[in-house]
Amino acid sequence: MSAKLKNLHVMKHSCIADALWYLRDEETPLDVFRRNSDTISKLLIAEAMRDLSLRAETVKTPLTKTKAERLSEDVVVVPVLRAGLAMLFGVLELVPNTRVGFVGLERDEKTAIAKEYYWKIPTVTKNTVVMVVDPMLATGGSAIHVLKRIAAEKPKKLQLVSVIAAPEGIKAVNDLFPDVKIFTAAVDEKLNTQKYIVPGLGDYGDRYFGTT
Ligand code: PRP
Ligand code: URA
Repeated sequence: MSAKLKNLHVMKHSCIADALWYLRDEETPLDVFRRNSDTISKLLIAEAMRDLSLRAETVKTPLTKTKAERLSEDVVVVPVLRAGLAMLFGVLELVPNTRVGFVGLERDEKTAIAKEYYWKIPTVTKNTVVMVVDPMLATGGSAIHVLKRIAAEKPKKLQLVSVIAAPEGIKAVNDLFPDVKIFTAAVDEKLNTQKYIVPGLGDYGDRYFGTT
């Protein structure tokens, strides 16, 4: 795919590269997969949150009073079930007070079209930054389904955080949502005929939750 991919941030970090190696390796056992998935999720989310607004607040240290900054943004994180849940655990360690919405989607194994089975999103206002988290951006169908419904609420900003993205999925999101920034650890080569990402890592949900 030669089309230029837009509004894309591929995070380069040695810890991410190393963790991704373990996620890709078909021999990686469940506990090691989870640990490396949590590492990547936290680093990606930290990057996606880099520019969130801060407010200055006075704080009294053991030595003196000073002004220091605190996060002031209203953030809603939306993991796309099931695999997106794998990213939520890391996010909540980083920002324990963030609000969380849930979307349940499952791709049909034959058509790869995502079908919604659950939707519960907290109130989104014009001041809310919404981060949709889903480790695999393949055709983009799942992400687009979620982004369409959330964009209708007119949030301040919408972002998408994935671990691995296929060029096809990035382009599909770019075409419909040119303002949505995509954060990812890797842009892989292509989709196969079953719409799995190649080289990819297989089915993220199955590998993180130990199902087959
Ligand atoms: C995976 C993944 C995404 C979707 C990506 O979910 O977590 O939600 O596929 O594919 P797309 O970009 O082609 O829509 P899956 O349907 O395998 O469900 P699961 O999370 O329950 O395993
Ligand atoms: N979902 C996955 O879990 N893996 C893929 O490669 C594509 C969609």
